[in-house]
Amino acid sequence: MMTTLTAPAPAGVDTITLRRPDDWHIHLRDGPMLAAVVPYTAAQFARGIIMPNLVPPVTTPAAASAYRERIRAALPEGSDFQPMMTCYLTDATSPDEIEAGFTQGIWIAAKLYPAGATTNAHHGVTDIPALAPVLERMEKIGMPLLIHGEATDPAIDIFDREAAFMEASLLPLLARHQGLKVCVEHVTTAETADIVRAHAGRVAATITPHHLMINRTSIFQGGLRPHLYCLPVAKRERHRLALRKAATGGEACFFLGTDTAPHPKGAKESACGCAGVFLGPVALQCYAQVFDEEGALDRFEAFASLNGARFHGLEPNTGTVTLNRRAETAPETIRAGEDEVVVFRGGEALPWSLGEVTR
Ligand code: DOR
Ligand code: ZN
Repeated sequence: MMTTLTAPAPAGVDTITLRRPDDWHIHLRDGPMLAAVVPYTAAQFARGIIMPNLVPPVTTPAAASAYRERIRAALPEGSDFQPMMTCYLTDATSPDEIEAGFTQGIWIAAKLYPAGATTNAHHGVTDIPALAPVLERMEKIGMPLLIHGEATDPAIDIFDREAAFMEASLLPLLARHQGLKVCVEHVTTAETADIVRAHAGRVAATITPHHLMINRTSIFQGGLRPHLYCLPVAKRERHRLALRKAATGGEACFFLGTDTAPHPKGAKESACGCAGVFLGPVALQCYAQVFDEEGALDRFEAFASLNGARFHGLEPNTGTVTLNRRAETAPETIRAGEDEVVVFRGGEALPWSLGEVTR
């Protein structure tokens, strides 16, 4: 039984203390970028699901285990952050290897990227029905499937790709594999949120801070804003409002996943800028602002610290994190080796700031 550790904080309070939250969707990269970004995530979250879209992708238990060691080695001294690894599914993934990595405790879930759907997804799955033997095995062993839910046909309008995927691929997959646990990652539309609700119990979704704060017009506000471009791309305002309802409404099928995705500034400010928003230093502050604006601070803990753990069959964390209603300006950029990475909302005064963390 999971209970809330702290008394619910009514809207209008100046301080909120939650059980330590987890981030169920993180891109940490490798090398100097990993070293630069992991301290920010580790300062905010106790655990996190690490995405496997490295170059080359993390497709074997040995690669996942080695990557986990590199992440641990990059953590600040004394950090207790726990990276939870995922397997990058390809057309060649074997059911036995999936099971071996799961039963050995190396990975907690597998990530399905439709081939070519996003950054480093070109080794992804080209034929989802053909993945049936892998998905059947995952269903049998209780291993969750995390899905990047976008169609890849370039003829489909980019703003319709999530909807197209849900109709053509997700609903048939859920019908074929009725016991499979599925998390729809970074949901961006009202309709997808309804599909998740309709299958709640075994289907869940993560929601990012940026999809709660920006809509598709934000990407073009006063000029092109490459640092707001991610995939799935932000949708119309009605979708943003629906996502805010989903995140703050207290439904157990929605939980925190930042999709923090660092790229060098130059790779985003380019003739063909890549997709991804970097949230490491500001994630919890942004979520707190949204919950506050929605008058739902009393539901923040469920979204941030309880629902995801329950979906993955884990106990919630024991420590706490405190957020204060005290404006603080986020850094505009952070340094990563030779590069800079632009921070979401960087340079702006965020109304909530991170306070004490206890273990
Ligand atoms: O915007 C995105 N960036 N979406 C993804 O799915 C991948 C991510 C990345 O790895 O940069
Ligand atoms: Zn992602």
